[in-house]
Amino acid sequence: TTFMDSEKASAYTAHQIAELIRQKQKEGKPAVLGLATGNTPKLVYKELIRLHKEENLSFENVISFNLDEYYPIEKEHHLSYTYFMAEQLFNHVDIKKENIHIPHTDFSQGDIEKYCLSYEDKINSFGGLDLQLLGIGRNGHIGFNEPGSSFDSITRLIDLHPLTREDAAPEFGTLNEVPHQAISIGINTIMNAKKILLLALGERKSEIVNKALNGEVTTEIPASVLQTISHVEYILDKQAAQLI
Ligand code: GLP
Repeated sequence: TTFMDSEKASAYTAHQIAELIRQKQKEGKPAVLGLATGNTPKLVYKELIRLHKEENLSFENVISFNLDEYYPIEKEHHLSYTYFMAEQLFNHVDIKKENIHIPHTDFSQGDIEKYCLSYEDKINSFGGLDLQLLGIGRNGHIGFNEPGSSFDSITRLIDLHPLTREDAAPEFGTLNEVPHQAISIGINTIMNAKKILLLALGERKSEIVNKALNGEVTTEIPASVLQTISHVEYILDKQAAQLI
């Protein structure tokens, strides 16, 4: 679905999420949401906050799992995804603290593999994700599943791609400051979500959006795997859609 501008695309995305939350509430069930960070979902979260404040949308039944987190980074770091989610959404709605899951990466290397498996198990313990919100990296990454990631992959520690680190450099100040690794849920974990919303905004995403939607399905463009399933919706603004 293509929209005139990023506000409209984001509002549409937020309303889909809100509808799922409300539907699950009616059924007396939790809504298990896979959430994303980056610039792309910011307006989605803003609209969800507005719906909470002005239209009684409650997050009491929401269980959230974030896609990924830099490794290593401290939770308190202003560029950690824990910090981002608190600022952009969680501090402003009535989600229960114990229902928030974000990979944390401030521990010693030895525990990581076990930790990643436990994150995956936790998602599965809720019956998997009802909805996964995704952005897309300029190299086609989803979450931090960089080019070369296996379509069978689950939550794990990965090495960040040079382009990903370059894109994050302005925020961190210098390239040197950007972590070299991240924990990310896998491509398989994402594909198992019952519904996937991929949001892409702006001209700088137009090339990769075209490759991911119309190009070859290849692990070199991780988002291309979404061509193989039907429970995905691409939500684009005019600029991101201009080459398709
Ligand atoms: C980040 C995140 C991804 C995100 C992507 C795009 O590094 N780990 O989950 O979708 O890169 O970021 P942005 O939305 O800022 O363009």
